[in-house]
Amino acid sequence: MELKIYKDHHHLSDAAANAIIELLKNKPDAVVCLASGETPRLTCRLFVEKALQQKTDTRLFTFIGLDEWVGIPPSNDGSCHYFFQQELIQPLGISSGQVYLFDALSKDPEEECRKMDKTILDKGGIDLVIVGIGMNGHIGFNEPGVSFENYSHVINLDETTITVGQKYFKTATTLQKGITLGLKHLQQSKKVLLLANGAKKAGVIQKTVEGRVGNDFPASIMQTLDQGFVMVDEEAASLLGQRK
Ligand code: PGA
Repeated sequence: MELKIYKDHHHLSDAAANAIIELLKNKPDAVVCLASGETPRLTCRLFVEKALQQKTDTRLFTFIGLDEWVGIPPSNDGSCHYFFQQELIQPLGISSGQVYLFDALSKDPEEECRKMDKTILDKGGIDLVIVGIGMNGHIGFNEPGVSFENYSHVINLDETTITVGQKYFKTATTLQKGITLGLKHLQQSKKVLLLANGAKKAGVIQKTVEGRVGNDFPASIMQTLDQGFVMVDEEAASLLGQRK
């Protein structure tokens, strides 16, 4: 794992956006998986801006959404679906055949998981995955206690996720389960970027980088990934020992 510290959220997001652009230049048919959320929003916007400016060919890559709230329809502006439509798919005109998002309304969410795992396998694995980190150390909806060996799965959401998750919704929303790629996908991806910004993420970044590796704090898996980069701004890095 490598730690990279940037001046602020903008510099961090710029570097993450450049990583997507570089990948698509070298491998136009790459498989890219992104998280939704406050952290990666600016990365998505800068990626779209750069791709349009530089006329990057975005017609061949495969886009995979990291996770979704089970039971929340794609029309709900708090859903991951909605985020990806707004921030990526519509602005770049990405065709539906390139996009794989979990159907959160599926009657058979387990089947959704199997379909996603098969898609990733058939496409030769994920080239680049960009994730955020939750206030409980989750990645996607890999909540504390999850197995590092999981591929896609449905999971009961942690209390912290249910509470913090309200920030994405205009009105109080019942959140119970999530559907998510697993930590095994992270381990098998060619490159993994975990992004965090702001002082409120300083504690979880300290645990991610310097804490004991274990599934009680899923993001600690980053320490085991040779292809993993923890990219943070100065504020999120402020509790790291090496910064003192
Ligand atoms: P955030 O979410 O980027 O909105 O802080 C992070 C996460 O819960 O994964």
